Parts: sequence; structure tokens; C-alpha cells
Amino acid sequence: LPIAILISGRGSNMEALLNACDAPDYPAEVVAVLSNNPDAAGLDIARAKGIPAHAIDHRPFRQDRESHERAMDRALREAGARIICLAGYMRVLTPFFVKAWSGRMLNIHPSLLPKYPGLHTHQRALDSGDTTHGATVHLVTSGVDEGPVIAQARINIRPDDTAETLSERLLPKEHALYQDALRQFITDQASVL
Ligand code: GRF
Repeated sequence: LPIAILISGRGSNMEALLNACDAPDYPAEVVAVLSNNPDAAGLDIARAKGIPAHAIDHRPFRQDRESHERAMDRALREAGARIICLAGYMRVLTPFFVKAWSGRMLNIHPSLLPKYPGLHTHQRALDSGDTTHGATVHLVTSGVDEGPVIAQARINIRPDDTAETLSERLLPKEHALYQDALRQFITDQASVL
């Protein structure tokens, strides 16, 4: 199934998905990587792997968020994408875009949702005295970091953990989780996708 990945920065989850898609038995192929940020390091990683990767900068659109997302929507459809994976895409999407890709857009979030939607999830888990933390892949709906959970990965919080050590330890779990969750999603939804 042709998929696209939306990024804003480093792109390590994107890279993990690209690597997963290299396997001949993986049910997805990446037809496009898009970033709202022209300086996203992930764009170069994708290009180095021969994946079409483009920035559609949100800044020239000023306050017109929907026009920016209509431009992205056009590019994604031209590329033939059928599923979108958000991977560190740092903008809240408009109702237009969420509706256009309803049931076909996944996100990875670094917390055990419904705990800690939004930013600074690692620090918030520490501040709450949690003993476990994790990441969630979920379908994107209109609420930020809401939407049906597809899969979660869990790690234990150690007494000496900081937000940095937690994020470092969680990241490889995110990479494994996202490719497993996408495979599971495509397999389960095959009849409607
Ligand atoms: C990850 O922690 C992801 O869960 C969150 O943003 C971060 C993106 O990192 N949504 P990367 O760009 O994939 O390296």
C-alpha cells in the first residue's frame, strides 16, 4: 500500500518506517515524505534513500492553515498516497485535513495515551511520579493526540531517570512500535483501505 510520511524535524521515526518498508514482505511502500519545515533533517535522510521528499513551508501561507494543508493534500494525492503516517509532525492539523484522511492517518505520540497529550510528555510522566511510560500509535481524529489507539509500547521509569534519559530509552521502542502498528493496521483494515 502506498503511504506518505509527514515530518517536521529529525525524522528518526520516519527513517525507521523507511527501513521497515525496504523489507519485501512489508505491506507498505513510501511514495512521499513531506515536511512543513524546509530545514527538517529528515528530508535529507529520505532523499539519500531515494524517496521523493519535499517541504511545503507553512510560513508563506501565514494564518491560512487550511490553504497550506490543501497544498499538502494535493501533493499527497498526486504521489498516490493512501495512508499518512505523522512522525514528529509538529503542527495541529485543520478539520479539513483530518476529515480528508479520516481512518487513513496515524500518529505516534511519546506517552501512554490518554495520559499526557501535547508536549513535554517525559517530564510530565516524571513529575506525576509514574513508574511506567511509553508511546502510542493512534488514528488521528480532530482532538490533538486523541483517536483510537492502535498499539502501545511501555518502558519502566527508573529512579534516576530524567526527561532526556527517558526520551532516549523510549525512542528505539517508538521505532519498533510504529512499524509493527502500521503493519497491523494495514493487515486488519485491508478490506476497507
Ligand atoms: C517522537 O518522540 C515522536 O513520538 C513525537 O515526536 C518525536 C519525533 O522524533 N511525535 P523523530 O522526528 O521521529 O526523530
